[in-house]
Amino acid sequence: MTVHDPRVLVARAHALDAADPLRAVRDRFVLDDVVYLDGNSLGALPRAVPARMAEVIAEEWGRLRIRGWTEAGWDTAPERIGDRLGPLLGAAPGQLVVGDSTSVNLFKVLVGAVRLAPPGRDEILLDGSTFPTDRYIAASAARLTGRTLRVLPPAGIAEAAGPRTAAALVNHVDYRTGELADLPGITEAVRGAGGRTVWDLCHSAGALPVELDANGVDFAVGCGYKYLNGGPGAPAFCYLRAEYLDRFDSPLPGWWSHRDPFAMADEHLPHPTVRRARVGTPDVLSMLAFEAALDVWDGVEIAAVRAKSLALTDFFLECVAALLPEGAVDSLTPRAHARRGSQIALRHPEARRLTAALGDRGVVGDFRPPDVLRLGFTPLYTGFAEVVRAATALADEVAG
Ligand SMILES: Cc1ncc(COP(=O)(O)O)c(C=O)c1O
Repeated sequence: MTVHDPRVLVARAHALDAADPLRAVRDRFVLDDVVYLDGNSLGALPRAVPARMAEVIAEEWGRLRIRGWTEAGWDTAPERIGDRLGPLLGAAPGQLVVGDSTSVNLFKVLVGAVRLAPPGRDEILLDGSTFPTDRYIAASAARLTGRTLRVLPPAGIAEAAGPRTAAALVNHVDYRTGELADLPGITEAVRGAGGRTVWDLCHSAGALPVELDANGVDFAVGCGYKYLNGGPGAPAFCYLRAEYLDRFDSPLPGWWSHRDPFAMADEHLPHPTVRRARVGTPDVLSMLAFEAALDVWDGVEIAAVRAKSLALTDFFLECVAALLPEGAVDSLTPRAHARRGSQIALRHPEARRLTAALGDRGVVGDFRPPDVLRLGFTPLYTGFAEVVRAATALADEVAG
């Protein structure tokens, strides 16, 4: 393809920005001149968070002290924030709880899912392109529950599910390539075979509709700090489908999952709600920062976010095709909308150098070994003019 005049793309970008129904949402974030395409690692700071945190520290911690647990609602924050995530994830109230890290939640729900399976179901299926922490935890869960871990390409999970399947752990969006897995199809196949699904939603929560309830997902976990903008190390979330609330048997039954923590009882009696997925004392400051960050979603439909995400990534691929010589980079991210998350992953032998050089030009993406430049497009704050800036900088660096 011929290399085009970037001014044509700039004009198109301005028209797309002018017609963008989410354009004003950008003002809810603290941003600068940098083209920030790393919201798939750490979302930008929502404007409401600093003042809310100052208030939490001065008023709730400073003045209420221990009374904050009841009078400021710290005690119930994990379920309250979980319910606020419900509309973004397609989950009715009472099935989501916020707390701990994704890794810890993965361990809880994967072991919990396997504990629901009869002993004859002796396999845990794992998508082979998974994020490393999922692999390590699945291997440990398999050892702990006496099951065998069977690692497959994500597309092979549905077919592999059968009478030996206890549970399948699958990533909704591949962290490296940005490929979107067929969540409805895989869930239906695993459930149809009598197994249970555990979905890792780290790269889809807040970026695209998940519809946990409607799709029959059994268990899910995901990050608070990526497309949900909850802040560095924000607590993760954990979804237990309603039908498991009375029987989910957590492998980490801490006192905060007890039905009466302050009874200080010797025997653990699990809480009858999703609170049974908690462990110990919640990380209140991070949790309340996450809660304040969720204000950016007021009046925003996840369907509109998905529409803009696809428009942004389509436009970026178009800019790359127009500005870079053919074959200069290789997109690992599928072109089909049904198979694309909200990032574009480009392969280039010098991807590490390109990532650093783009950073020097004010375009922030990240590098994943061995040769992948990842650019995440967060529809709440990324505009189309920024897409052209990023592609232009990339074209200059590849050329030079
Ligand atoms: C897909 C996926 N799963 C799990 C994790 C691990 O999350 P945490 O470090 O918060 O436990 C990450 C982190 O980036 C991730 O991208």
